[in-house]
Amino acid sequence: MASVAVIGSQWGDEGKGKIVDWLSSRADVVVRFQGGHNAGHTLVIDGKTYKLHLLPSGIVRKNKFSIIGNGVVVDPWALLKEIKAIRDQGVDVTPDNLMIAENATLILPVHSVLDEAMEKARGNDPIGTTKRGIGPAYEDKVARRGIRICDLREPDVLKEKIGNMMLHHNALLKGLGMDTVSADEIYSALMKVRDEILPYAGVVWRVLDKMRREGKKILFEGAQGMMLDVDHGTYPFVTSSNMHAAQAATGSGMGPDAVGYILGITKAYTTRVGSGPFPTELEDDVGKYLGEKGHEFGTTTGRKRRCGWFDAVLVRQSVTISGIKGIALTKLDVLDGLKELKICVGYELDGKKIDYLPASQAAQEKVVPVYETMEGWSESTKGARSWKDLPAAAVKYVRHIEELIGAPVTLLSTSPERDDTILMHDPFAG
Ligand code: GDP
Ligand code: IMO
Ligand code: MG
Repeated sequence: MASVAVIGSQWGDEGKGKIVDWLSSRADVVVRFQGGHNAGHTLVIDGKTYKLHLLPSGIVRKNKFSIIGNGVVVDPWALLKEIKAIRDQGVDVTPDNLMIAENATLILPVHSVLDEAMEKARGNDPIGTTKRGIGPAYEDKVARRGIRICDLREPDVLKEKIGNMMLHHNALLKGLGMDTVSADEIYSALMKVRDEILPYAGVVWRVLDKMRREGKKILFEGAQGMMLDVDHGTYPFVTSSNMHAAQAATGSGMGPDAVGYILGITKAYTTRVGSGPFPTELEDDVGKYLGEKGHEFGTTTGRKRRCGWFDAVLVRQSVTISGIKGIALTKLDVLDGLKELKICVGYELDGKKIDYLPASQAAQEKVVPVYETMEGWSESTKGARSWKDLPAAAVKYVRHIEELIGAPVTLLSTSPERDDTILMHDPFAG
């Protein structure tokens, strides 16, 4: 199979960056297809840490091409800052190894102002966004007033479009009793960065089509996770894009058959950052243990991640909805030392047993997890590089997860390090 799509199966931060980096040795091109710099992907290579937000995780490897597809919302200032930071770590980023779709939508400073204002307006019930302007930028895209990379080539069009867009936003800001934002200032700020951004702009759908015809291997890199998907996640506590594997096609300009093997990245327990329902959340010592041992702090905002038991119901739902063929199970080592482990295998809602998470916000808040308890292991799995190095109880835990979610574990990750990864089945083999 010439392509693999990596997507998160929980609420993000499953370890997608690590797995994409590992898999990118087998790929020719890595493509981001949704989200923006709300994402935070950490790679650890020979002890050196790289934190990526907008750049595809293949960027650190020499001779690999990286693409930011049309489905991504691009903050040009954040992108330039990230390019600089990664260059300072010795990674080459030039138009020879990075292309951004000319039809990608831009995130502008007004979008983070709006993101913050809308969060404030939600009062005691905020979404807990990353305040990066993601939601407002996607709103502009869908409302057909968005500014796109290609508009930077045409100053007159750009000026007019910004004027139209700000007519809308300034009315809203005034209504919220906030300071308005000057359209001229946005225009001049964009004109200052356009010469740095435009060399990366390209016709991504054509480039990918050519690569595909040449038999090149494409690795699609999803951000966030299925439970944050705007259609299938815990709405409204979601982000504003689709993580669904089909978005890999839409968000890069290819047909659905180009997506190939769908690999769901899955943490061996559950975390969530921001507000919203979380049935298996642990607010006790075990939750604290997972958070500390797993270093569960957001890569983007530094916020503490909420932690809980593995929820097989949610992952099974993601597997089914998104067509996940196999999973990469990460952070198994974080469970080392726990006497017993619980896995959520169903929910109780108003006294009735159900085996899926309903769409209603009220029901999602109310469901009570039904647990199975499994024996833990005291041995260390950290850094294990072979299946035979795992204690029997850990093997049992992994096998049981496979059974419950209806998908096999194709990769197993046992530490943040790139090579602490066990391959059971090569996703590129189909
Ligand atoms: P992403 O957003 O899905 O790319 O995940 P993040 O990078 O935000 O968060 C995952 C964190 O777990 C990062 O700090 C990784 O270095 C780390 N990590 C990834 N895989 C493993 C693993 O198998 N074990 C441990 N202990 N840490 C891991
Ligand atoms: P990666 O790619 C975890 C969450 C935010 C918030 C909600 C909406 O690292 O897995 P937004 O700023 O997108 O409007 O926030 O989505 N969120 C993430 N949580 N990992 C991410 O990305 C996330 N990106 C957004 O915390 O709850
Ligand atoms: Mg992350």
